[in-house]
Amino acid sequence: AEEAKKSLHYEEHTLKVTYGKLSHLKPKVRTFVDESARLCLPSSIHICDGSERELRNLLNVMQQAGMIEPLPKYHNCWLTRTDPGDVARVESKTFIVTKEKRDTVPAGKEGVKGTLANWMSPEDLKEEVSQRFPGCMSGRTMYVVPYSMGPVGSPLSKIGVQVTDSPYVVASMRTMTRMGGQVLTTLGEEDFVKCLHSVGCPLPLKRPLVNNWPCDPARTIVTHIPDTNEIISFGSGYGGNSLLGKKCFALRLGSTIARREGWLAEHMLILGITNPQGVKRYIAAAFPSACGKTNLAMMTPSLPGYKIECVGDDIAWMKFDEDGVLRAINPENGFFGVAPGTSMKTNPVAMSTVLSNTIFTNVAKTSDGGIFWEGLEKETPNNVSIRSWLGDEDWSTECGKPAAHPNSRFCTPASQCPIIDPDWEDAKGVPISAILFGGRRPEGVPLVYEAFDWKHGVLVGAAMRSETTAAAEHKGKAIMNDPFAMRPFFGYNFGQYLTHWLSMEGRTNRSLPKIFHVNWFRKDDKGRFIWPGFGENVRVLDWILRRVEGDDVAEESAVGLLPRPGSLDLKGLDTSTLDTHELFRLPKGFWEQEVRAIAKYFDEQVVVKSMIKLQA
Ligand code: GTP
Ligand code: MN
Ligand code: MN
Repeated sequence: AEEAKKSLHYEEHTLKVTYGKLSHLKPKVRTFVDESARLCLPSSIHICDGSERELRNLLNVMQQAGMIEPLPKYHNCWLTRTDPGDVARVESKTFIVTKEKRDTVPAGKEGVKGTLANWMSPEDLKEEVSQRFPGCMSGRTMYVVPYSMGPVGSPLSKIGVQVTDSPYVVASMRTMTRMGGQVLTTLGEEDFVKCLHSVGCPLPLKRPLVNNWPCDPARTIVTHIPDTNEIISFGSGYGGNSLLGKKCFALRLGSTIARREGWLAEHMLILGITNPQGVKRYIAAAFPSACGKTNLAMMTPSLPGYKIECVGDDIAWMKFDEDGVLRAINPENGFFGVAPGTSMKTNPVAMSTVLSNTIFTNVAKTSDGGIFWEGLEKETPNNVSIRSWLGDEDWSTECGKPAAHPNSRFCTPASQCPIIDPDWEDAKGVPISAILFGGRRPEGVPLVYEAFDWKHGVLVGAAMRSETTAAAEHKGKAIMNDPFAMRPFFGYNFGQYLTHWLSMEGRTNRSLPKIFHVNWFRKDDKGRFIWPGFGENVRVLDWILRRVEGDDVAEESAVGLLPRPGSLDLKGLDTSTLDTHELFRLPKGFWEQEVRAIAKYFDEQVVVKSMIKLQA
């Protein structure tokens, strides 16, 4: 013990701690920090407390380094422009590390490449780490970020500690999670999720930075080790690759923990909806990335008397309470939302949320110190000039390139949302009455249908497909399977994930939430959306609520229960231009093909023996 004490003492001197105290850390945290520092060799260590003063320091550091600039049009808003090589999640470089490959990916058909998660062996991980991490923080500060997913101290919450050499990551984690000293006190001597992150640019630099944004796209790797609750990420500073509480912890590791403990970690928004009679229900909904979660969660309803309140816009952790009611919490503390398409017309709630204390990444900037992206054309004064996310001054639509990157984002505190639900931080979570699945389906898929029962609902989730967003649009209609909107986020074998979902029925004596499929994105033969979407989606939620109450407003079809003619409330909509017949039409040829495609997908990716037999 004396020896250990001496060596710790020694390291406190050699590892220059410029903020906080190593000796205040609990032994397990301390060991993790020591090991990380020994491996990455930072020049100093900063233990984050989450304070306002600390944030000011971080913003200063970043401003000096040219990583961020202020947006003086708003209060405490900042703009970051990344290296154009580091703008999105990198699915091909994201791995789940297990001893057995089968624990990560279903066996699938021989000779077919599995698309449901990438597997890496522990040996390979060791090798990849040893090629990247030794000395990777040289000349930089290593920040220690203690954080809670979910309200601090809630029985549903989980704690992580991330070490990172990116001040941008720290500032963003402060918004997206509950971060700081209080978390370590709550943690006590318990285990936590260990998150090691480096942008992979030790000093002195081997190549000049682009936009002062350190990263190493060629060697980027994002790995998850469910056996030891560890996340190791290298080379990217962006979003889901670097804010490790979000996709890596709350979804990938989260789903493995949820399976062990008998609950669900899902890529879902959570919203509260109150009808004109004052009845309030909560709904969770899974749509793939860039398919409308943030927009639905913050919707301004067009039907009079309805109220929507937001609990979360991206991730839901759902557990049964002692009465067998499925309850959900939003493990996050902020919104990391898609910027393009957001406007006062489509999402006024999001617009008013982001006008203070927000970090914008890869959006365009107006000459009066404001933000700009595709969708804000009508809301931007004519007399300002626009600088694109790539730095082109005097950007205009004529140049043929977008002003903002299609995956540009805002990172903003959830508490600022004007319609944040009063119970959004309730430790027990909110009771879920309905679960929605949906995606971008330009053809054949009706506006809404209800699953016949839980098992059918699980099939509907498993069979989810969606049109690829942004880049793929030019290649025509590329429809991709995205089961449960979780394809990029499964932490374990999808076959076992299905078994887990099916097992929910046996975990409660109460009736489970009803399951629905929605599609805001059906198009006419001229390629225009036939449903107005956004605030009008409340009409669909209204029908769903009536089904939840048991109203007889549905009729059977081949795919599920459809709204009985006339039961969808269209009052106030211009029905002369709305093709209600097309909204619900089930083209036979389309569905025969769809069923064959789904059967083939399961056959190739999951090897479905007797579990689900699909015949066209
Ligand atoms: P992630 O945050 O990446 O998981 O995506 P998300 O599911 O939160 O998607 P988001 O709500 O940000 O929507 C993405 C895009 O879809 C935006 O450009 C929106 O304008 C558009 N969108 C959202 N809802 C609707 C709708 O009801 N109709 C139409 N036509 N577009 C919509
Ligand atoms: Mn998402
Ligand atoms: Mn979103």
